[in-house]
Amino acid sequence: MKLHLKRPPRSVALALLLAAAAAHGAPPAGRLLAAQCAQCHGTDGQAVAGMEKLAGESEGEIYGELVKMKANIKPDEIMHRQAAGYTDAQIRLIARYFATVGRSATTTGAVSSRRKSDD
Ligand code: HEC
Repeated sequence: MKLHLKRPPRSVALALLLAAAAAHGAPPAGRLLAAQCAQCHGTDGQAVAGMEKLAGESEGEIYGELVKMKANIKPDEIMHRQAAGYTDAQIRLIARYFATVGRSATTTGAVSSRRKSDD
């Protein structure tokens, strides 16, 4: 019993945290984390002006790139600094978020029509 009190499983703590966030109507954790990327990669990964567009890439691609850039031996690169600030679990949430917004944008066509009218 003592062991349980000292070290509650992380999954339980995370579930409680996510439940609390949902109860208060907060955006999903992945979306909050991904908002940090918007200044360069655009809102919901819809980049403008030649920047790398993240929306539409798969979860595996984005996750793989970020993990690689986090471990980059050239720490002066922009993305190394971005990626280094996140844990593996957070990187997964971010990757899942961008993969999801990419899918819904393609399904509804909402983003492409908006970008056309902006041009
Ligand atoms: C300060 C600007 C900046 C921010 C903020 C930023 N990036 Fe980047 N990102 C870049 C640049 C510039 C590149 C092009 C590669 C390079 O020069 O390192 C890039 C490249 C990438 C790539 C590889 C190219 C691709 O399309 O797959 C991924 C993935 C990526 N960024 C994800 C993210 C994520 C996720 C975040 C938020 C956690 C983020 N970036 C925040 C500037 C930024």
